[in-house]
Amino acid sequence: MEYILAPSILGADFTRLGEEIKTVAEAGAEYIHLDVMDGAFVPSISFGMPVIQAVRKATDKIFDVHMMVEEPGRYITDMKNAGADLICVHAEACCHLDRTLHQIKEAGLKAGAALNPATPVEVLEYVLPLTDMVLVMSVNPGFGGQKFIPYATEKVKKLRAMMEDRGLSADIQVDGGVTLENAKELLEAGANILVAGSAVFKNDAAANVAEFLKIFREFQGR
Ligand code: DX5
Ligand code: ZN
Repeated sequence: MEYILAPSILGADFTRLGEEIKTVAEAGAEYIHLDVMDGAFVPSISFGMPVIQAVRKATDKIFDVHMMVEEPGRYITDMKNAGADLICVHAEACCHLDRTLHQIKEAGLKAGAALNPATPVEVLEYVLPLTDMVLVMSVNPGFGGQKFIPYATEKVKKLRAMMEDRGLSADIQVDGGVTLENAKELLEAGANILVAGSAVFKNDAAANVAEFLKIFREFQGR
């Protein structure tokens, strides 16, 4: 299994967004996590297509777009044109999740399904084979810098077991309050993509990325 760090640019300095992305990409982060918020599904509004299109020039790394948007199916073509490689939609925000996941795949992109903390993993039972990734939210989405919700670790375990039982091997991403301190327990639980905003962009971003990658290497070599 591949272990990937996905720095969330919500934690970056927006006056130097391109440089911040280049820094974490050159330090070895394989995904760039882009949090799109609509002010309806979540309380806050972040950024959308024009910003994603502008920063697309900064790196060739995978653009992992986390859509915290009601009915995100409306924006799949726009997000693809802006430079998305992977679109992750919330199960709670899609009236027809099966259709939306198909739309993403038909657009030639990787499809992810995200779950709020209160949403049980079982809601994905039937659509699991359509997903390239499942995102387990470990904070209530909407803001960076929140505290990790401990029961998210149990959800990751349950989800990995559910996948293994079915012979499926999608990526499991965890997002919200991820730090150098809790990273290892999340890998042990079965996650293989960690999103981190504040833990990456506070102080020295390149050094923080290197620390996360060290935890991944140690875990793989265990
Ligand atoms: C929260 C976003 C996260 C956020 C993570 O709604 O989905 O991606 O930027 O930030 P930290 O790592 O600071 O919790
Ligand atoms: Zn996110």
